[in-house]
Amino acid sequence: MVKTKTTFFCQNCGAQFAKWQGQCNSCKEWNTIAEEVIQKAEKVSWKSSENTSKRISKPQRISEISTQAEARLNTKDNELNRVLGGGLVPGSLTLLGGEPGIGKSTLMLQIALQLPYKTLYVSGEESAQQIKMRAERIQPISENCFILTETKTQNIFRSIEEIEPDIVVIDSIQTLHTDSIDSTAGSISQIRETAAELIKFAKETATPVILIGHITKDGNIAGPKILEHMVDTVLQFEGDRNHIYRILRANKNRFGSTNELGIYEMQGSGLREVSNPSEILISKNDEDLSGTAISATLEGMRPLMIEIQALVSSAVYGTPQRSATGYNAKRLNMILAVLEKRAGFKLGAKDVFLNVTGGITVDDPAIDLAVVAAVLSSNIDIAIDKRLCFAAEVGLAGEVRPVTRVEQRILEAEKLGFTSIVVSKYCKIPKHNFHINIIKVAKVHDVVHHLFG
Ligand code: TYD
Ligand code: MG
Repeated sequence: MVKTKTTFFCQNCGAQFAKWQGQCNSCKEWNTIAEEVIQKAEKVSWKSSENTSKRISKPQRISEISTQAEARLNTKDNELNRVLGGGLVPGSLTLLGGEPGIGKSTLMLQIALQLPYKTLYVSGEESAQQIKMRAERIQPISENCFILTETKTQNIFRSIEEIEPDIVVIDSIQTLHTDSIDSTAGSISQIRETAAELIKFAKETATPVILIGHITKDGNIAGPKILEHMVDTVLQFEGDRNHIYRILRANKNRFGSTNELGIYEMQGSGLREVSNPSEILISKNDEDLSGTAISATLEGMRPLMIEIQALVSSAVYGTPQRSATGYNAKRLNMILAVLEKRAGFKLGAKDVFLNVTGGITVDDPAIDLAVVAAVLSSNIDIAIDKRLCFAAEVGLAGEVRPVTRVEQRILEAEKLGFTSIVVSKYCKIPKHNFHINIIKVAKVHDVVHHLFG
C-alpha cells in the first residue's frame, strides 16, 4: 500500500515546508501554511503515446524549425487577437484571470461559439443547461462547440481523446482535480499538478488551452505564483462591474507584447468588441459644461481619447475632500499643490473631485495636463472648447513635460475631428502635414493664459 505522505504548503506563495509554522519564510505571510496530502497514486494523466500525439519531440536545428506550422489560430475576436499578439499559438497555455462576475466565462463561451475550430469548453462551475441558456443569449449555437461538465482531469483527457478538439477551454483551474494527488480542488498542490498535466497535453498535441482562473481579493490569481510562471500567457480581465466596459490586458505574454489592450462592452447579449474606444469614452453632449477636458492618452500601442471630469467646490466642512476615480489620488494632490504654488490658484479650501469617464483607470502621465485643465475649468466655471485636447505631463515646478509617441496622439486627435491639441514645447514633433493646430506650452501658467485669457 502506498504510504500517505503529507507536506505543508504556503497557500499564498506555494512554498513547501516539512512542518507547520506560523509564518511563511518565503513570502512572510502569517497563517497561510496548510497541510496537504500528496499521496502519489499511479498516474493516469495525459500520456503521450505514438498515436495520440500529433507531434513527436526530438532535437531540431533552430534554423530548420519552421515557424509556418506555428501559424496562430484566429479567435475571430479582434480585441483578443490583438492582446494575444495575433491569435492563439498552438500548444500554448493561456490563463485568464479576473474578479468574479466580470465576464470571464461569458468571454470564453462567446469565443468558443464563434470559433471555426472544434472547441471543448470544460466547465466545473456551471451545469450544461446553464451554459446552453447563456450560449443561446450570446451567439448562434455552433456545431463545433462541445460542452463538458467535469472536474477530474483524467476524465477530461478521456473526452479529449474521444473528440480531439482543436482548442480546450477550462473554466476554471480552481475546480479541477487530479487523481494522482489527494488534496482538495483549488489547493496549491492540485492547481500545480492539474496545470502541469494540461501543459503536458498542450505541448504534446499542439492544442492551445485556455484556463480561467479566479483572483484573490488583492487582485492576484488565486493559487501558487508558479502557475503564472508555468503558463505562456497571463491575461487579466478587468473593469468596474457597475460600468459596462471591460478591459482585457496581458500581464505576461511569451508570444507578443504586454502593452496591448482590448476593450469590450457588456451587453444583454454578451460582450461586444469596442473597436473605436475613443468615441464611447467621450460623452456626446452639445452643452458647454465646465470641468471637462479631453486627453489624448495611449494604452499600449493604441491611442485613446479620454474625458476627464472635475468638480471643484467650496469645502463645507473643515478639511477639504479630494477624491479621484480612475486617476491616482496622490497625483491629484500633487497637481493641486502645483496649481496653488505655480499658478496662484487657491485650491486649499476647495473640495476637488476627479473622474475619468467610462470607469477605466489610466496610468499614462500624459493625462496630467487634461487634469489641470479640468480642475481649472471647474474652478472658474468656464467651459473648455470641446474641439481642444491635451497630451502632456506636469512636473513639480509647474513645467509641462513632453510625453512618448506624441505623433500618434496628434494623429488620433486629428482623426477624431479635434481642431487643436496642447502639447509640451519640448516635444520633438516629426515633420508632418498636420491639419490640427498644435499649441506648444512650457509652463502651467501658459496653459491658464491660453485657455482663460
Ligand atoms: P460571468 O461570465 O459569469 O463572470 P465570471 O465567469 O467572470 O464570474 O459573467 C457574469 C456577469 O455578466 C453577470 O453579472 C451578468 C453579466 N452578463 C451580461 O450582462 N450579459 C450577458 O449576455 C451575459 C451572458 C452576462
Ligand atoms: Mg465564471
